[in-house]
Amino acid sequence: MKGIVLAGGTGTRLSPMTLAVSKQLLPIYDKPMIYYPLSALMLAGIREVLVISTPEALPLFERLLGSGADLGMRFAFAEQAVPGGLAEALLIGEAFVAGQPCALVLGDNLFYGAGLSALLKHSVKTLDGCTLFAYRVDDPQRYGVVEIGPEGNVLSLEEKPARPRSPLAVTGLYLYDGNASTLAKTLHPSARGELEITDLNRIYVERGKARVQVLGRGVAWLDTGTPESLLEAAQFVHTLQSRQGMQIACLEEVAYRERFIDAEQLARVSALHGNSVYGSYLSSIVRGD
Ligand code: DAU
Repeated sequence: MKGIVLAGGTGTRLSPMTLAVSKQLLPIYDKPMIYYPLSALMLAGIREVLVISTPEALPLFERLLGSGADLGMRFAFAEQAVPGGLAEALLIGEAFVAGQPCALVLGDNLFYGAGLSALLKHSVKTLDGCTLFAYRVDDPQRYGVVEIGPEGNVLSLEEKPARPRSPLAVTGLYLYDGNASTLAKTLHPSARGELEITDLNRIYVERGKARVQVLGRGVAWLDTGTPESLLEAAQFVHTLQSRQGMQIACLEEVAYRERFIDAEQLARVSALHGNSVYGSYLSSIVRGD
């Protein structure tokens, strides 16, 4: 399966932090935001990823991530000229995806929790149509909202409804079969002028080809859309990391544990981080501490 990280947009809700820097390059505690969604794709076993961002920010993502060789990954990069909506990622990524199944993740979504890697791998393996990941939230009106029936079937799917029919938000991680780009071409811009991912997902629902995987209370799904949620996400990462002495979304560690790279390669990349905490952590993994 191929992966796409959509990391464009204007980031206006985080202004002035985002006046000169792309939102997805801002730190969540000790690493760039994009590391978190990227690690989710890697934990799903995905090794080929297209990063989509604005023409201004794309060179910075290329500088940050490189070819992916250090991680046993392959990164490709593509521009989104203007923020035309989330579903546009599947049009921009059409040649990259080449009719294969793909996972789309938003560059500002953070997933963390016990069993997440196994759940993602299972979802990839059993994909038939599209799989959405839902999460219970207090304020569903801010998100895509899915209502599911007793057998897990989708009863309704709405984008930011004023009166949500369920507390289940649709998270920014979507798995699609090989038809997604073709179906995305049939979409029309919404009232706000965007190709809505919810409209694409609704096509799968109407065909009886959408599944919803509810992420339970053992999983954290954090969004980073406001200064407050950005700080909360940073505090979450800091709290867990300092308590456990284990990193969240350390790409080199994920690559090593997923066997994308071996110990020798890990030792080489850990040296690139010098005497930072991150570098020392990688060295401790190399030593097997
Ligand atoms: O985070 C999950 C939510 O993401 C879902 O529940 C919603 O159904 C989905 O529409 C989306 O809602 P948001 O309000 O968060 O979408 P937003 O327009 O803020 O875009 C999400 C991220 O994607 C953001 O970091 C900017 C980036 N983006 C957005 C658009 C519209 C792009 O890179 N390109 C775009 O064209």
